[in-house]
Amino acid sequence: MQTGETTPKGQRIGVPREVFPGEKRVATVPDVVTKLVKLGFAVVVERGAGDLADLSDDAYEQAGASIAPTAAALWSGSDIVFKVRAPTADEVALMHEGQTLIGFLWPAQNPDLMQQLAAKKVTALSIDALPRTLSRAQKMDALTSMAGVSGYRAVVEAANAFGRFFNGQITAAGKVPPAKVFIAGAGVAGLAAIGAAASLGAIVRANDTRAEVADQVISLGGEFVKVDYEEEGSGGGGYAKVMSEGFQAAQREMYAKQAQECDIIITTALIPGKPAPRLITAEMVKSMKPGSVIVDMAAEQGGNCELTEPGKAVVKHGVTIVGYTDLASRMARQSSTLYGTNLFRLTEELCKTKDGVINVNMEDDAIRGLTVIKNGEITWPAPPLPAAAPKPAAKPVATAEKKSAHGHGSSGPLPAKTLAMVFGLGALVFWAIGAYAPAAFLGHFTVFVLACFIGYMVVWNVTPALHTPLMSVTNAISSIIVIGALVQILPPEAGTNGRPDALIQWMAFGGIVLTAINMFGGFAVTRRMLDMFRK
Ligand code: NAI
Repeated sequence: MQTGETTPKGQRIGVPREVFPGEKRVATVPDVVTKLVKLGFAVVVERGAGDLADLSDDAYEQAGASIAPTAAALWSGSDIVFKVRAPTADEVALMHEGQTLIGFLWPAQNPDLMQQLAAKKVTALSIDALPRTLSRAQKMDALTSMAGVSGYRAVVEAANAFGRFFNGQITAAGKVPPAKVFIAGAGVAGLAAIGAAASLGAIVRANDTRAEVADQVISLGGEFVKVDYEEEGSGGGGYAKVMSEGFQAAQREMYAKQAQECDIIITTALIPGKPAPRLITAEMVKSMKPGSVIVDMAAEQGGNCELTEPGKAVVKHGVTIVGYTDLASRMARQSSTLYGTNLFRLTEELCKTKDGVINVNMEDDAIRGLTVIKNGEITWPAPPLPAAAPKPAAKPVATAEKKSAHGHGSSGPLPAKTLAMVFGLGALVFWAIGAYAPAAFLGHFTVFVLACFIGYMVVWNVTPALHTPLMSVTNAISSIIVIGALVQILPPEAGTNGRPDALIQWMAFGGIVLTAINMFGGFAVTRRMLDMFRK
């Protein structure tokens, strides 16, 4: 290319400053610039492009990018342009033939933009059109990364508007109950919200029309609340369908109950290509406790709540209803990093030769899916993929948490075969000892072996988080030794050696007092500890 101070090795990737009002994200970050340069590309960033995401021009330059002084210089000097939002008409005017544009273009919603881009004879890749069901495409799935950030941010916004703790607390100033959070729709955003709210210590409940997400909800620390009506909600490709009237009525009844009980509702329900389902009525809002919060993530698609005002936070009937449509942009640095990485992974797929030149290979299912215009010809929509696998919504966190919930993860209870071998070996050793050891020893030894076995089973089947209360309760149980002191202090039975002397009785009395403290204190402390885990 012609512009720029450095000699570009391969094609030039341009990253303009986003012009959509309020948009703080940027399509690449310095860390990603380094990787793009390694891949053979030259990177040019418009002056101030990363300012709102706390990424300075200096940082981009240090990573190997050059800075374009104006948007015009950037657009005209780039072979490939990375954007977050779809370009405006002014931006399209700056494009030239043969250029490649990558960003959220939403071809179905923006037919005019498609025509303008086609007229410019460019190639356009719409990252939102990526076939998300392809497991190979996950690393490029910017919809998932943005929804993940947004789900997290929805909880942060809710916490900001809510005047109480999320977790239950027992303090000297009194007991605080945990907040109850209800999440409507457990897609990517919903699952992220469940994880974030649960980690803050709230009681989290969630509902979705797709029954398959129940396990994911549970593994993230939530409780799945079912609608009392049998109907499968999967509409194919991991997305939902519009439910029957009967189901909707039953769902409204359940949601009305949750609205009365919960302090915070986060709604994320969406059916592709349809307006967002209305799940929270004005009546339900009225029934919520004053100070409650609703975050309606589907605000841009019409809202899941009747009273949502898109882009605003309003208070109605004493309930704050947050309808922000820029949740990902509110965590600009994080979103930009994830989005930049998604685009880098896509660039790797486009440039398998690692020579800084992309090849839009229409034979590749993932590339074909997101290519909406090829050299000025509209190629959207892509033909459907042969067999759509279920949507990969499960998060790695879920697996990790599931493991820990079972106690020791990979080092959990032994597999049946190994256990049988251990028992066999144990029995053999036991027989050998029994054959030679004195009878008195055998009795004690049996008790010892059984104690080891019970201890093993108890410790291994208790979640690690509960090991401290477990130690406390076993300590309390060890007070069984009080029997020794009781035997010494009680009146002698016939046939014994007579009453023990006063010193032994006093010592036994002391022993009983101390053991009683250990016993009753131990159980009381254990109870308090367990209360901290109870919601
Ligand atoms: P998704 O399509 O993966 O999830 C939507 C979920 O809602 C699905 O699990 C679906 O089964 C469920 N659902 C559909 N109809 C339902 C009903 N009647 N009752 C209960 N559940 C129902 O979408 P994703 O990626 O999780 O995003 C969720 C929403 O958040 C979307 O509306 C999306 O546009 C929005 N979003 C908003 C942002 C913002 O800044 N406000 C940013 C990112 C996403």
